[in-house]
Amino acid sequence: MISIKTFVVFLSVVGTVYLKSVKQSDAIEEVERYIAEKKAEINPRYRLQYHVAPPVGWMNDPNGFSYFRGEYHLFYQFYPYDSQWGPMHWGHVSSPNLVDWKQLPTALVPEEEMCFSGSAVVKDDTMILMYTGRLTTDVEPFFNETQYLAFSDDGVVFHKYEGNPVLSFTPNGSPDFRDPKVWKHEGYWYVVIGSKTLDERGRVLLYRSPDMVNWEFLSIIGESTGGMGYMWECPDFFEIKGKHILLMSPQGIEPQGDRYKNTHQTGYIIGSFNYETYEFVPESDFQEIDFGHDFYATQTTEVDGKRILIAWFGMWDVPYPEDVDGWAGAMTIFRELDLVANRVTMKPVEAMTDLRTETLFEGEFSEDGIIEFGKTGELIVKGDLSKNIELEIKGSNGGGQVIVRWDTAVRKVVVDREGDVRQVEWLPLKSESWRIFLDSSSLELFCGEGEVVFSTRVYPDGDWYVTNRSPQALDTVAYKLRRSVPE
Ligand SMILES: *[C@@H]1O[C@H](CO)[C@@H](O)[C@H](O)[C@H]1NC(C)=O
Repeated sequence: MISIKTFVVFLSVVGTVYLKSVKQSDAIEEVERYIAEKKAEINPRYRLQYHVAPPVGWMNDPNGFSYFRGEYHLFYQFYPYDSQWGPMHWGHVSSPNLVDWKQLPTALVPEEEMCFSGSAVVKDDTMILMYTGRLTTDVEPFFNETQYLAFSDDGVVFHKYEGNPVLSFTPNGSPDFRDPKVWKHEGYWYVVIGSKTLDERGRVLLYRSPDMVNWEFLSIIGESTGGMGYMWECPDFFEIKGKHILLMSPQGIEPQGDRYKNTHQTGYIIGSFNYETYEFVPESDFQEIDFGHDFYATQTTEVDGKRILIAWFGMWDVPYPEDVDGWAGAMTIFRELDLVANRVTMKPVEAMTDLRTETLFEGEFSEDGIIEFGKTGELIVKGDLSKNIELEIKGSNGGGQVIVRWDTAVRKVVVDREGDVRQVEWLPLKSESWRIFLDSSSLELFCGEGEVVFSTRVYPDGDWYVTNRSPQALDTVAYKLRRSVPE
């Protein structure tokens, strides 16, 4: 049913009469019936206990991360009908605190368009989603990407805008045009969208609108000059401490030593932005924001002056051991960003401490000592950095082995997942502690103030066992963590 209020909002926002899409609501009922039925068949062995994951089926990018009527909302790229990628829907969860998440009905289902990534804003108490509608076409390159809108006045039921698409041109005619991230600044809506040059260099486009419907191209705020990937996906653009951060996920950067070892990357450029010239002047090179094996497609939102980040806890073209269990893919834990010493740092949001139920260990973790966790745990360790540190983390019945190491010879933190190594130099900004989060099939390591972070999926058999293989005892606190997402 359309409320009078919604009707008035639509008239003023969109200047046209909105009609309810009957097809969309029937399709959502069908999806929800399917999910309810399939959930019973999920094998729970790797189900995460405090990370958002799909109820069944496949998840990739986070979408529409926003705050609406006192709750955080997170949407995600979702294919319910298989544990691999398929025509994209938007799944939906909400939370009062960024830790306890509730499953909501699927928000968008594909009709003529697949519902690719996008973002959410709130205007006059209406939530507006802007997303990429991806169509399959008969002519080269056999796809078309344009930007669509959908609305909700309750944050649960979404209606696609009748006038879609609202933005369908790139300045160079490139068909790669996706992942709109919208924000408001002084009376205008701005959006950054990922694209590329005609000779395959990634770039980010900036547009502006007075009403979310009529868009004007402003500038190219970032572009690879070569060597920085053929496509820049999932751009985000925001201010911290007076600087602008262009965060994005470039595809196709070649590995260089320890860097860029994943299929695709996610990182940022720090610079200055001028709202009169629409020019972004970079003041740093591109830097990766997370050094783990499974991290892509970040999205941020700002609430109470805090810039919160979420990412897909996954990577393209890698195995998903949970896919045989009826699901695949997850989100990382939520992280608060800061800008310190020319670096974007990520710390777990404060509310993560609400998950602690029991202190399992506190004191000197001796050489060859073992801490036994359940399926989940948080471990804070501090050692003497003039000596090596080595934690062996694995399943009580084997499997899932990861070695986390501080190597004094090269002053690098190393995350070695069964021989597949990610490593990076660490110069502690202040704290010399590590904070490690273990869930049923994941590990996240935050070094110091979050200046070096690794996010890695890992699959133990049984409970987590952590052994101190360092040539030193470590100052340690270990907690058990509770479940905070639906089973
Ligand atoms: C994509 O479709 C829109 C209409 O929805 C059209 O205006 C646009 O030219 C198409 N783009 C490409 C690259 O074919």
